[in-house]
Amino acid sequence: MGNFVETIKFSKEFILHPVSVSSIIPSSKNLSSAIMSMSNLENTETIFEFGCGTGSVTREIVKNLNKNAKLFSFDINPAFIKVIKRKYPQAKAINDSVENVTKYMDEYSVDSVDRIISSLPWAAFDDDLQEKLLDITYDVLRLNGEFVTYAYLHTKFMPSHKRFVKMLRKKFKTTIFSSVVWLNVPPAFIIKCRKD
Ligand SMILES: C[S@@+](CC[C@H](N)C(=O)[O-])C[C@H]1O[C@@H](n2cnc3c(N)ncnc32)[C@H](O)[C@@H]1O
Repeated sequence: MGNFVETIKFSKEFILHPVSVSSIIPSSKNLSSAIMSMSNLENTETIFEFGCGTGSVTREIVKNLNKNAKLFSFDINPAFIKVIKRKYPQAKAINDSVENVTKYMDEYSVDSVDRIISSLPWAAFDDDLQEKLLDITYDVLRLNGEFVTYAYLHTKFMPSHKRFVKMLRKKFKTTIFSSVVWLNVPPAFIIKCRKD
Protein backbone atom coordinates (compact mmCIF):
# COMPACT_ATOMS: atom_id res chain seq x y z
CA MET A 1 0.00 0.00 0.00
CA GLY A 2 2.86 2.38 0.95
CA ASN A 3 4.43 2.04 -2.50
CA PHE A 4 1.10 2.68 -4.20
CA VAL A 5 0.56 5.90 -2.23
CA GLU A 6 4.10 7.05 -3.06
CA THR A 7 3.64 6.26 -6.74
CA ILE A 8 0.50 8.42 -6.80
CA LYS A 9 2.42 11.20 -5.02
CA PHE A 10 5.23 10.88 -7.54
CA SER A 11 2.85 11.02 -10.54
CA LYS A 12 1.14 14.07 -9.07
CA GLU A 13 4.49 15.87 -8.76
CA PHE A 14 5.31 14.85 -12.33
CA ILE A 15 2.11 16.57 -13.51
CA LEU A 16 3.04 19.69 -11.53
CA HIS A 17 6.76 19.68 -12.45
CA PRO A 18 7.18 17.59 -15.62
CA VAL A 19 10.69 18.81 -16.46
CA SER A 20 12.38 18.38 -13.10
CA VAL A 21 10.62 15.09 -12.23
CA SER A 22 10.88 13.80 -15.79
CA SER A 23 9.25 10.40 -15.31
CA ILE A 24 5.63 9.56 -14.58
CA ILE A 25 6.37 6.84 -12.03
CA PRO A 26 9.35 6.12 -9.75
CA SER A 27 12.23 3.92 -10.90
CA SER A 28 11.53 0.20 -10.86
CA LYS A 29 13.19 -2.28 -8.52
CA ASN A 30 15.04 -3.61 -11.59
CA LEU A 31 16.57 -0.22 -12.39
CA SER A 32 17.40 0.55 -8.74
CA SER A 33 19.07 -2.86 -8.32
CA ALA A 34 21.02 -2.40 -11.55
CA ILE A 35 22.21 1.01 -10.31
CA MET A 36 23.36 -0.59 -7.07
CA SER A 37 25.18 -3.40 -8.86
CA MET A 38 27.25 -0.70 -10.59
CA SER A 39 27.81 1.36 -7.40
CA ASN A 40 30.28 -0.44 -5.24
CA LEU A 41 29.66 0.95 -1.76
CA GLU A 42 32.46 -1.02 -0.08
CA ASN A 43 34.97 1.25 1.64
CA THR A 44 32.77 4.29 1.16
CA GLU A 45 32.22 6.83 3.90
CA THR A 46 30.22 9.53 2.19
CA ILE A 47 27.57 9.04 -0.47
CA PHE A 48 25.57 11.79 -2.14
CA GLU A 49 22.30 10.92 -3.81
CA PHE A 50 21.05 13.50 -6.31
CA GLY A 51 17.31 13.60 -7.04
CA CYS A 52 16.06 11.04 -4.52
CA GLY A 53 12.36 11.43 -5.39
CA THR A 54 10.25 9.08 -3.27
CA GLY A 55 13.23 6.83 -2.58
CA SER A 56 13.30 3.96 -5.10
CA VAL A 57 17.07 4.24 -5.33
CA THR A 58 17.49 5.46 -1.73
CA ARG A 59 16.00 2.17 -0.51
CA GLU A 60 18.70 0.18 -2.30
CA ILE A 61 21.50 2.50 -1.15
CA VAL A 62 20.36 2.24 2.47
CA LYS A 63 20.36 -1.58 2.20
CA ASN A 64 23.99 -1.54 1.02
CA LEU A 65 25.32 1.22 3.25
CA ASN A 66 28.42 0.50 5.37
CA LYS A 67 27.92 0.73 9.10
CA ASN A 68 29.49 4.15 9.57
CA ALA A 69 28.81 5.55 6.12
CA LYS A 70 26.86 8.76 5.68
CA LEU A 71 24.22 9.21 3.01
CA PHE A 72 22.99 12.68 1.98
CA SER A 73 19.95 12.65 -0.30
CA PHE A 74 19.10 15.86 -2.17
CA ASP A 75 15.92 16.83 -3.95
CA ILE A 76 14.42 20.18 -4.92
CA ASN A 77 10.90 18.91 -4.36
CA PRO A 78 9.69 19.31 -0.74
CA ALA A 79 6.96 16.66 -1.12
CA PHE A 80 9.63 14.06 -1.95
CA ILE A 81 11.92 15.10 0.90
CA LYS A 82 9.03 14.62 3.31
CA VAL A 83 8.70 11.00 2.15
CA ILE A 84 12.46 10.37 2.45
CA LYS A 85 12.57 11.80 5.98
CA ARG A 86 9.75 9.52 7.05
CA LYS A 87 10.84 6.32 5.29
CA TYR A 88 14.62 6.50 5.34
CA PRO A 89 15.90 8.14 8.52
CA GLN A 90 19.33 6.63 7.72
CA ALA A 91 19.64 9.28 5.00
CA LYS A 92 20.17 12.96 5.70
CA ALA A 93 17.42 14.31 3.43
CA ILE A 94 18.08 17.81 2.12
CA ASN A 95 15.49 19.88 0.32
CA ASP A 96 17.66 21.92 -2.00
CA SER A 97 19.06 21.93 -5.50
CA VAL A 98 22.28 20.10 -6.26
CA GLU A 99 23.56 23.57 -7.21
CA ASN A 100 23.97 24.21 -3.47
CA VAL A 101 25.62 21.00 -2.25
CA THR A 102 28.82 22.71 -1.13
CA LYS A 103 26.82 24.73 1.39
CA TYR A 104 25.85 21.44 3.09
CA MET A 105 29.35 20.07 2.85
CA ASP A 106 30.48 23.02 4.96
CA GLU A 107 27.55 22.60 7.34
CA TYR A 108 28.18 18.85 7.87
CA SER A 109 32.00 19.01 7.62
CA VAL A 110 32.22 16.84 4.51
CA ASP A 111 35.52 17.32 2.66
CA SER A 112 34.89 15.11 -0.34
CA VAL A 113 32.49 12.48 -1.53
CA ASP A 114 33.21 8.81 -2.35
CA ARG A 115 30.14 8.09 -4.50
CA ILE A 116 27.54 10.22 -6.22
CA ILE A 117 24.44 8.32 -7.28
CA SER A 118 22.27 10.52 -9.43
CA SER A 119 18.73 10.28 -10.75
CA LEU A 120 18.80 13.82 -12.13
CA PRO A 121 17.11 14.20 -15.53
CA TRP A 122 20.26 15.47 -17.27
CA ALA A 123 18.74 15.45 -20.75
CA ALA A 124 15.97 17.79 -19.57
CA PHE A 125 18.46 20.44 -18.43
CA ASP A 126 19.63 23.28 -20.63
CA ASP A 127 23.27 23.66 -21.55
CA ASP A 128 24.15 25.99 -18.65
CA LEU A 129 22.46 23.96 -15.91
CA GLN A 130 23.92 20.70 -17.23
CA GLU A 131 27.41 22.19 -17.19
CA LYS A 132 26.99 23.83 -13.79
CA LEU A 133 25.68 20.66 -12.10
CA LEU A 134 28.29 18.47 -13.73
CA ASP A 135 31.09 20.82 -12.67
CA ILE A 136 29.82 20.64 -9.07
CA THR A 137 29.53 16.85 -9.29
CA TYR A 138 33.11 16.51 -10.52
CA ASP A 139 34.54 19.00 -8.03
CA VAL A 140 33.02 17.46 -4.89
CA LEU A 141 33.91 13.88 -5.87
CA ARG A 142 37.19 12.64 -4.39
CA LEU A 143 39.98 11.27 -6.54
CA ASN A 144 39.05 7.70 -7.60
CA GLY A 145 35.49 8.45 -6.56
CA GLU A 146 32.66 7.26 -8.79
CA PHE A 147 29.66 8.98 -10.30
CA VAL A 148 26.72 6.75 -11.28
CA THR A 149 23.72 8.10 -13.13
CA TYR A 150 21.11 6.89 -15.61
CA ALA A 151 19.42 8.10 -18.75
CA TYR A 152 16.16 7.13 -20.40
CA LEU A 153 16.52 5.22 -23.64
CA HIS A 154 14.31 7.62 -25.61
CA THR A 155 16.69 10.51 -24.80
CA LYS A 156 19.72 8.72 -26.27
CA PHE A 157 19.56 10.55 -29.60
CA MET A 158 18.56 13.92 -28.19
CA PRO A 159 21.15 16.71 -28.57
CA SER A 160 20.94 17.42 -24.81
CA HIS A 161 21.89 13.81 -23.96
CA LYS A 162 24.71 13.77 -26.52
CA ARG A 163 26.02 17.04 -25.06
CA PHE A 164 25.90 15.50 -21.56
CA VAL A 165 27.85 12.41 -22.67
CA LYS A 166 30.42 14.61 -24.42
CA MET A 167 30.91 16.56 -21.19
CA LEU A 168 31.26 13.32 -19.19
CA ARG A 169 33.93 11.99 -21.54
CA LYS A 170 35.81 15.28 -21.39
CA LYS A 171 35.83 15.38 -17.58
CA PHE A 172 36.16 11.73 -16.58
CA LYS A 173 38.83 9.35 -17.83
CA THR A 174 36.54 6.34 -17.59
CA THR A 175 32.90 6.38 -18.67
CA ILE A 176 31.03 3.11 -19.08
CA PHE A 177 27.46 2.34 -20.14
CA SER A 178 25.26 -0.55 -19.00
CA SER A 179 22.94 -2.52 -21.22
CA VAL A 180 19.32 -1.32 -21.31
CA VAL A 181 17.12 -2.04 -18.29
CA TRP A 182 13.87 -2.79 -20.12
CA LEU A 183 11.81 -3.36 -16.99
CA ASN A 184 11.49 0.31 -16.16
CA VAL A 185 9.09 3.00 -17.34
CA PRO A 186 10.66 4.29 -19.48
CA PRO A 187 13.51 1.84 -20.23
CA ALA A 188 16.85 3.24 -19.12
CA PHE A 189 20.58 2.60 -19.09
CA ILE A 190 23.18 3.41 -16.47
CA ILE A 191 26.34 5.46 -16.91
CA LYS A 192 29.27 5.13 -14.54
CA CYS A 193 32.25 7.49 -14.44
CA ARG A 194 35.41 7.40 -12.39
CA LYS A 195 37.45 10.42 -11.41
CA ASP A 196 41.14 9.59 -11.97
C1 LIG B 1 13.58 11.01 -12.61
S1 LIG B 1 13.23 11.61 -10.97
C2 LIG B 1 14.00 10.31 -10.05
C3 LIG B 1 13.40 10.07 -8.69
C4 LIG B 1 13.87 8.81 -7.96
N1 LIG B 1 15.29 8.84 -7.65
C5 LIG B 1 13.55 7.57 -8.74
O1 LIG B 1 14.49 7.01 -9.33
O2 LIG B 1 12.39 7.16 -8.77
C6 LIG B 1 14.31 13.02 -10.87
C7 LIG B 1 14.37 13.68 -9.51
O3 LIG B 1 15.35 14.73 -9.55
C8 LIG B 1 14.87 15.84 -8.80
N2 LIG B 1 15.60 17.03 -9.27
C9 LIG B 1 15.52 17.64 -10.47
N3 LIG B 1 16.37 18.67 -10.54
C10 LIG B 1 17.04 18.72 -9.35
C11 LIG B 1 18.05 19.57 -8.82
N4 LIG B 1 18.57 20.59 -9.52
N5 LIG B 1 18.49 19.32 -7.57
C12 LIG B 1 17.98 18.30 -6.83
N6 LIG B 1 17.02 17.47 -7.29
C13 LIG B 1 16.54 17.68 -8.53
C14 LIG B 1 13.36 15.85 -9.07
O4 LIG B 1 12.63 16.58 -8.12
C15 LIG B 1 13.06 14.35 -9.07
O5 LIG B 1 12.74 13.88 -7.79
